[in-house]
Amino acid sequence: MPILVPGPASPQLSQRLSEISGLSEVKVSYRVFPDGESYIRLEEPLKGDVAVVVQSCPPPQDKRLIELLQLVDASRRAGASKVIAVAPYLAYSRQDKVFLNYEALSSEIVANVLCAMGVRAFVTVNVHSEAVLKYFKVKAVNVDAFSEIASYIKSLDLKDPVVLSPDRKRHPEAVRVAQRLGCESAFLDKRRDPLTGSVVTEEKALDVMGRDVIIVDDIISTGGTIINAARIVSKNKPKRIMAACVHGLYAANAVEKLLAAGISELISTDTIESGTSKVSVAGALSSSLRQVMEDLL
Ligand code: R5P
Repeated sequence: MPILVPGPASPQLSQRLSEISGLSEVKVSYRVFPDGESYIRLEEPLKGDVAVVVQSCPPPQDKRLIELLQLVDASRRAGASKVIAVAPYLAYSRQDKVFLNYEALSSEIVANVLCAMGVRAFVTVNVHSEAVLKYFKVKAVNVDAFSEIASYIKSLDLKDPVVLSPDRKRHPEAVRVAQRLGCESAFLDKRRDPLTGSVVTEEKALDVMGRDVIIVDDIISTGGTIINAARIVSKNKPKRIMAACVHGLYAANAVEKLLAAGISELISTDTIESGTSKVSVAGALSSSLRQVMEDLL
């Protein structure tokens, strides 16, 4: 019987996943040494069970990644027959290819290390670039959370909503959310300087006067992308501007900056657990995991 191994970055999601999937959770002790190093131990043996390790990798990413590796290692030492690694937010997935000569291909490093640790399958949620999945030498599954986000948005009392993508590349996700809401979608054009990382969004007239605008993206990090979009939307006199993402990283006081930029509601999922995690990916993860486990057994 597969057993869920909850990581310190994903306690609530692990519990929800355990309830939905019926997998029992093994007790894990977790400590941090005075110098900041993490210590992880499974408190029970796994006796040949398949271990489903659930550990997201938001900031501090490197620490969360090491803990993921420690959980995989501890599960194997505790007797797991196979280990499935679930990293709902996969750190370094934005470094999905070599952009500039001689830079490290970080997402490939992460995949190589997980595979070298003996992980037999890998599951993530809305990975920034599907290209990352091909770096895994085992089955790697990307779960989509936009249906769950759309259901949450649909439950809100919205006035003539428009779903906006702050970046043309992400418009397909906005279209999917808009289809579920039965409303229009639109997009903006954004460019990011590969050297400085600064974001420029082109001005555009949008038909949003008196309407609720929901800006959707996969990741909110500094909030710069959403803030640029909100500034452009505001010029067209909407009723409210909301922002929804799968992974709310919220670096550098992003939440405060987003609220100051006029975002009336911030929505994210529990791939990264925070005060804005209003949507759970547990149901979507559970369905995908069932298939992954069947394939492994
Ligand atoms: C980039 O391509 C992603 O889809 C997000 O738009 C980006 O990561 C958001 O970053 P930030 O919040 O720092 O603008």
